Amino acid sequence: MKITAVGLFLWVIMTSSLVPMMCSSLYGNETDRLSLLQFKKAISLDPQQALISWNDSNHFCSWEGVSCRMKNPRRVISLNLTNRGLVGQISPSLGNLTFLRYLSLPTNSFTGDIPLSLGHLHHLKTLNLSKNTLHGNIPDFKNCSNLKVIGLGDNQLSGQFNNNFPAGLQMLVLAANEITGTIPSSLANITSLQVLSIRNNSIKGNIPHEFSGFPNLQILHAGANKLAGGFPEAIMNLSTLTGLSLAFNNLSGEIPSNLFDFLPQIQLFALDSNLFRGHIPNSLGNASKLQQVDISSNNFTGVIPGTIGKLTELYRLNLEKNQLHARNKQDWEFMSSLANCTGLTLFSVSDNCLEGHVPSSLGNLSVQLQLLLLGGNQLSGGFPPGFQYLCNLISISIDSNNFSGVLPEWLGSLQNLQLIGLYNNYFTGIIPSSLSNLSQLGYLYLHSNQFYGHLPPSLGNHRMLQELTIGYNNIQGMIPTEIFTIPTIMLIDLSLNKLDGSLPIEVGNAKQLAQLSLSSNKLTGDIPSTLGNCESLEKIMLDQNIFSGSIPTSLGNILSLKVLNLSQNNLSGSIPPSLGNL
Ligand SMILES: *[C@@H]1O[C@H](CO)[C@@H](O)[C@H](O)[C@H]1NC(C)=O
Ligand SMILES: *[C@@H]1O[C@H](CO)[C@@H](O)[C@H](O)[C@H]1NC(C)=O
Ligand SMILES: *[C@@H]1O[C@H](CO)[C@@H](O)[C@H](O)[C@H]1NC(C)=O
Ligand SMILES: *[C@@H]1O[C@H](CO)[C@@H](O)[C@H](O)[C@H]1NC(C)=O
Ligand SMILES: *[C@@H]1O[C@H](CO)[C@@H](O)[C@H](O)[C@H]1NC(C)=O
Ligand SMILES: *[C@@H]1O[C@H](CO)[C@@H](O)[C@H](O)[C@H]1NC(C)=O
Ligand SMILES: *[C@@H]1O[C@H](CO)[C@@H](O)[C@H](O)[C@H]1NC(C)=O
Ligand SMILES: *[C@@H]1O[C@H](CO)[C@@H](O)[C@H](O)[C@H]1NC(C)=O
Ligand SMILES: *[C@@H]1O[C@H](CO)[C@@H](O)[C@H](O)[C@H]1NC(C)=O
Ligand SMILES: *[C@@H]1O[C@H](CO)[C@@H](O)[C@H](O)[C@H]1NC(C)=O
Ligand SMILES: *[C@@H]1O[C@H](CO)[C@@H](O)[C@H](O)[C@H]1NC(C)=O
Ligand SMILES: *[C@@H]1O[C@H](CO)[C@@H](O)[C@H](O)[C@H]1NC(C)=O
Repeated sequence: MKITAVGLFLWVIMTSSLVPMMCSSLYGNETDRLSLLQFKKAISLDPQQALISWNDSNHFCSWEGVSCRMKNPRRVISLNLTNRGLVGQISPSLGNLTFLRYLSLPTNSFTGDIPLSLGHLHHLKTLNLSKNTLHGNIPDFKNCSNLKVIGLGDNQLSGQFNNNFPAGLQMLVLAANEITGTIPSSLANITSLQVLSIRNNSIKGNIPHEFSGFPNLQILHAGANKLAGGFPEAIMNLSTLTGLSLAFNNLSGEIPSNLFDFLPQIQLFALDSNLFRGHIPNSLGNASKLQQVDISSNNFTGVIPGTIGKLTELYRLNLEKNQLHARNKQDWEFMSSLANCTGLTLFSVSDNCLEGHVPSSLGNLSVQLQLLLLGGNQLSGGFPPGFQYLCNLISISIDSNNFSGVLPEWLGSLQNLQLIGLYNNYFTGIIPSSLSNLSQLGYLYLHSNQFYGHLPPSLGNHRMLQELTIGYNNIQGMIPTEIFTIPTIMLIDLSLNKLDGSLPIEVGNAKQLAQLSLSSNKLTGDIPSTLGNCESLEKIMLDQNIFSGSIPTSLGNILSLKVLNLSQNNLSGSIPPSLGNL
């Protein structure tokens, strides 16, 4: 008898993988099994069959995404179903997984509320429900005394920003939700907090003074909210900060002149799109770990501090859309100083009040530079010397200045250029054929200058060009057929020039072309019926030319066409009925 009982017991163990439900109390906790089954039940769609193993032929501890502790009874300590395409609600039954430490369900399509019962999980250390479509308020997690990480970003959570969070929390990410109210000052009681991201919500007010008490805060991302008031004083006390973003708010006033003396660890500093004014503090150069500085779209005045060259780690410097000036040699010193920032990849000072000639020290800037943006200033002189040494540039934007003179031949040697923006200047001479060497070029904006001569047929060598604007110049001669055989071309604007001859029938090859503007030239002959083959066209401007003949009926085939201007030509005949709905 006794032997038989032991034998039966062994048999059960050996076959337990087949009939675990008979003995789940022996090897695991029935509550956990039922909680998981209820969780599965609340999932309405499982397109990747992520939960196929969640059946009674396997012990629940071996279900996909489930991990249990080793000790008996086996209890669930981790549920991790990241990016599995799951659709449905998060069942409140998860609150019964008493021993759960790690709950991670990000990048799925869970909807509905976050169950209040999750606030009962005393052992929970990490909760990640980010990138779902969860609604409603954030539950009270104050009793989850072991919770270190909360990730609820990229959902549709709403309600007032309450301090529902336990002491001991290290990371709180609520970014990209619809949270309202103000930042609770009591958050500062969570002295263990290292990361606070509340970016992209509808939070009002300012950073509370109490935040000055955080001993370990490293990341504070509060951009894209409705914060208002002055630069938050509390920041001055956060010497541990490595990342600060207050971008896209309504903050105003000056920033404290000695600010950067108090931020020795700062790497990311972003105040862009606010209403800040005053000078950029010289102390900026003292924050020697700075890598990214973005203060664009504010109202900063004064000069760019020469101390900037002390920032040897700097790789991104965006000062655009302010009122920074440079009038004399001294004001321009920042340019030679910047040469010390040998890792610089982006430097924008467009839409400011820089004047005069660009110093040739531009050529000493980091060879790593990819974007150098100087448009929208009052710069003058010839094409700025030094660009030729910046061989990794992908964009030259010096538009909307007072530059004059001819384009240098070496422009064609900057092999990585994808964008050339020279419009709204006084450049003259011919368009150099060397530009055709730029095989990556996607955008060539030369409009509103004083270029003359013929359009080089070599423009057709560009195989990646999408937008070509040479309008408002003094270009003459025929339109080279080659530009219509660029497979990627989407926009051609040659209006307000002195072009003559006819519109080539090859225009019909430009299958991607969305906009063709040839207004105010001296083009003659028929409008080719092949124009109707450009099936992507939305806008055709051929007005103020000398086109004759009739309007091709084929234009009616272009279903995307929204604007067609053929006025002030010598066209005859009637408007084709196919164009009736324009
Ligand atoms: C499972 O765990 C719950 C809560 O910890 C407990 O109340 C219950 O008695 C356990 N059940 C079994 C079968 O061990
Ligand atoms: C149960 O899970 C196993 C994988 O562990 C799977 O092969 C089997 O198809 C599942 N059974 C059902 C009925 O889904
Ligand atoms: C959770 O799952 C994801 C994706 O399967 C994995 O990258 C991550 O390391 C897992 N986390 C833990 C704590 O096991
Ligand atoms: C689990 O939790 C739900 C909701 O919180 C509750 O209704 C249910 O009775 C619990 N189940 C077990 C087995 O404890
Ligand atoms: C937290 O724990 C206390 C004491 O056990 C209890 O009174 C309170 O209701 C709990 N709060 C939540 C949200 O679970
Ligand atoms: C949550 O998971 C997502 C996706 O795996 C990850 O990108 C994110 O960093 C996690 N958030 C937190 C706070 O751990
Ligand atoms: C803010 O989040 C919404 C989704 O919640 C997203 O569509 C939008 O692009 C985000 N805006 C910014 C500035 O990050
Ligand atoms: C939390 O912070 C508030 C306001 O900052 C303060 O009045 C309160 O005493 C603090 N509570 C604890 C438990 O430290
Ligand atoms: C914040 O810094 C100021 C000036 O350095 C100091 O007087 C103040 O005591 C600090 N406050 C806290 C809470 O650390
Ligand atoms: C900033 O304030 C202005 C005027 O009070 C308001 O119209 C605007 O929506 C605010 N912008 C943000 C981002 O809160
Ligand atoms: C920016 O400053 C200029 C002159 O200093 C002022 O006229 C303008 O109103 C300011 N703009 C904003 C948005 O503060
Ligand atoms: C730039 O580097 C040079 C040589 O290393 C040094 O003399 C100069 O002071 C530095 N400039 C700045 C602004 O740090």
